[in-house]
Amino acid sequence: MLPVYLFGSLKFLASAQDARLRVLGQNDAIAFDRNRKGVAHSYPKCPPNLYRNHYTTEIINLSHHSRVFHDALFPLELKFRLSYTEVTLCLPVRHRHRNITQIPGEFSLMPKNSYYLSTPIYYVNSIPHLGTAYTTVAADTLARFRRMCGDDVLFLTGLDEHGQKVEEAALAHDMTPKEWCDSLAVEFQKVWSMLNISNDMFIRTTDAFHEAAVKALATKLYESGDIYKGTYEGWYCIPDETYWNASDIDETHICPDCGRELKFVEEENYFFKLASYQEKLLEYYEEHPDFIGPDSRKNEVLSFVKGGLNDLSISRSNVKWGIELPWDTSHTMYVWFDALINYLSAVGYGQEGREETFAYRWPAQIHFIGKDIIRFHCVIWPAMLMAAGIELPQRVFAHGFLLTKGEKMSKSKGNAQTPASLVERFGVDGYRYYFMRDVSFGQDGSISLESMVQRYNGDLANDWGNLCSRLFNMVGKYFDGLVPDASDCTDEGEGADLKQIAAALFGKYKGRMDKLDYAGALEETWELVKATNRYIELSAPWALAKDEAQLPRLKAVIYNALEAVRIAALYTAPVMPETSAQVWKRMGLGDIVSVDDIEDRTSWGLLPVGNSVEKGESLFPRITEE
Ligand code: MSP
Repeated sequence: MLPVYLFGSLKFLASAQDARLRVLGQNDAIAFDRNRKGVAHSYPKCPPNLYRNHYTTEIINLSHHSRVFHDALFPLELKFRLSYTEVTLCLPVRHRHRNITQIPGEFSLMPKNSYYLSTPIYYVNSIPHLGTAYTTVAADTLARFRRMCGDDVLFLTGLDEHGQKVEEAALAHDMTPKEWCDSLAVEFQKVWSMLNISNDMFIRTTDAFHEAAVKALATKLYESGDIYKGTYEGWYCIPDETYWNASDIDETHICPDCGRELKFVEEENYFFKLASYQEKLLEYYEEHPDFIGPDSRKNEVLSFVKGGLNDLSISRSNVKWGIELPWDTSHTMYVWFDALINYLSAVGYGQEGREETFAYRWPAQIHFIGKDIIRFHCVIWPAMLMAAGIELPQRVFAHGFLLTKGEKMSKSKGNAQTPASLVERFGVDGYRYYFMRDVSFGQDGSISLESMVQRYNGDLANDWGNLCSRLFNMVGKYFDGLVPDASDCTDEGEGADLKQIAAALFGKYKGRMDKLDYAGALEETWELVKATNRYIELSAPWALAKDEAQLPRLKAVIYNALEAVRIAALYTAPVMPETSAQVWKRMGLGDIVSVDDIEDRTSWGLLPVGNSVEKGESLFPRITEE
């Protein structure tokens, strides 16, 4: 009999409060969280003991990320492999085996596909602004959607802590670089928590495991001859941590990207043989048309690479705040070389005991980036991976800039609102909705307070919030707050229309999400929201309620509208987790965040008759323009 291997990545909750206990054999207890994602023994640091009976467990890695990034979460990642010698099913490792839902005994675990996505790791020169929050919210939306589709998501974000810019910022604040980074790491995590970012990991390039991975990769390239010693002479932009060739700039020595002053650098450096990867890169882009998105950006990268590449200086001899080169400690690693490796180090590269994790997680499904850092991610990064003989990520997607009054928004330009001030005014979901709905992902987009108020009042307060409150109110008024039994009347006609829209929605929505067309996915969802509002208007439950003979129809209308709202809440959940969870809670439904089978859950008719429905406070109180 062949063993079946199930690989998993499990996240612990601090307490086993909302966990269900299942007993395995006499002494073994495993706690699952409602998501079937967490598993814990009675004491979370103790790995589950599955040795008895016919189960054998191999604990691959137990890494404890002690930094708290979600209030109630005690993030502890357990990578495990279970081999079931008594199971007669034999399926290839890491393939979708959703059909194994029950393992003999009382143990049940649904293996999932790994879906690994990342944001850039942000510089610690200031707290997150609307731009960095934009990338992070977009990645979070996809992470949430993929979890709802049943994937085993690893959503990575974090901080880029080394380099000259950070060294200078720390000095200006009279702190050591590490003290400065620690203080900002807390600020970043506060903002991500405020924005309901569900990252599974928060990496910092000062993490010891990251440094180990950087050294391992650099050593490999040095030994293979891809890194060599030479002399660098040229211009450097400290705020962007970017080298510039004399041919790219003019006599003013201003950075062509950010407009700030460049510094002349002349020193002995180690170089990465980037130029020799020109042909291989071009071949790769050709063979993997989905590697760079959107297409407009791909063309930009192609013409850049076709124009010829120069070798890249990857070390600095007079920047102290960085990772030392293992073979020459008088040099520190160029901050971009160090930073890009975070995508590998986070999942175990170069770390003993994490090989299985790495094999399971890598290659990443997608790196989210802004268009400003596309060359680093689509030219330098793939060349580094090629040199190391490591597979490339499946996709790099570069979104556009947020513009205010036509200008790129950034702290240095002083035109940035803070995420906190907007969340205070629009709520976290109002905030997330605006950026995902009003800006077309992939293109530059102008943002303004006026359009934010308009979106909020129109789509959220009027269409969605009002729908929920008037409907829940009617359930209270006509049915004592309980979901009515509509089995006597199906209300074909208008009701059927609603069902059809709901039935077609999964395919349309997923199609849009697969293209990262968030605005489109929300637009599709709004078809259902608007149709439900229309349905209520046309069926006029308030008139039906006046006529006893119309009771079956009244029940059907209310049931159908509630069912549409239940389904719409599932589709709004990736963008607006807080209010969607509220809607479900008010309808007596379970925890929407733990849904991992959205396609099945959006089938019509799953709302249990008799559930109590609570009206509650307005989800999106109207905002008056100042
Ligand atoms: N540390 C590097 C990234 C290393 S990744 C291996 C870095 N950090 S950063 O703090 O400058 O963040 C840049 C990212 O912030 C951009 O790529 C983009 O995702 C986001 N944004 C910063 N300003 C932005 C706008 N005005 N609009 C949209 N997003 C922008 O570069």
